[in-house]
Amino acid sequence: MTRGDSDPPALPHHVAIIMDGNGRWAKMRGLPRVEGHRRGTRTVREVVECARELGIPYLTLYAFSIENWGRPKPEVRTLMSLLREFLLRELPLMERHRIRLRVIGDTAVLPLPVRRILSRTIAATAGHGEMTLTLGLSYTGRNEIVRAARKIAAEATRGEIAPEDITEALFSSHLDTSGMPDPDLVIRTSGELRISNFLLWQSAYAEFVFTDVLWPDFGKPEFRRALDEYAHRHRRFGLTGDQAGPSPRR
Ligand code: IPE
Ligand code: IPE
Ligand code: MG
Repeated sequence: MTRGDSDPPALPHHVAIIMDGNGRWAKMRGLPRVEGHRRGTRTVREVVECARELGIPYLTLYAFSIENWGRPKPEVRTLMSLLREFLLRELPLMERHRIRLRVIGDTAVLPLPVRRILSRTIAATAGHGEMTLTLGLSYTGRNEIVRAARKIAAEATRGEIAPEDITEALFSSHLDTSGMPDPDLVIRTSGELRISNFLLWQSAYAEFVFTDVLWPDFGKPEFRRALDEYAHRHRRFGLTGDQAGPSPRR
């Protein structure tokens, strides 16, 4: 992506969050891990509302990775039912704020009740244009890239495209995030300094903000702090500092 000579926008167009630390939050309080997940859904609501108020058009939340299927069965089951409850409970919020729901990931493997409520919510909110909330469910970046490669290979096999038609734009359009801008800002909570297989292709030029705060304790003040940090970053996209335009003032 190239930028013009104008200043980089202070507010990110797309924020993606690795919501981490629910289990540790619960453990610190002598509670079962799932209590942390339950509290985490409150944070999701708060952050969605905050993003909407601020006018951030794309918010993507990493809710469940493919690797997370390997966790103890009762934890996975609770996560799936919390997800279902969350979608049922938050549809009015999405209606009120005109938020569109999208999902990225290998969703075919989700339990049927979750798939049902997902497709109902996606259909009910499809006409909303104010903000797109995307949930990463049974998602990993590598899996998404492999599925995109398969779709492209199938098109090539059918003779619909030639190898030289495969460009970055064509590849992007076969990813689950097709049509969405790349994330400008990726936030990770809980002090871990890794990407854990999230948006590997899309975060090529994202700014990263890491915070020690555990996800259930993350809220509007922390979110605003991350946005403020982003606003002071000088995004250069491989160019020299002079070419990339003025550095934001501290
Ligand atoms: C994030 O919290 C939620 C999911 C990955 C589903 P964790 O459950 O990973 O919490 P920690 O990292 O064990 O504290
Ligand atoms: C990343 O958190 C996945 C989600 C937030 C859904 P994890 O807790 O699964 O990541 P690792 O295992 O610490 O890398
Ligand atoms: Mg974790």
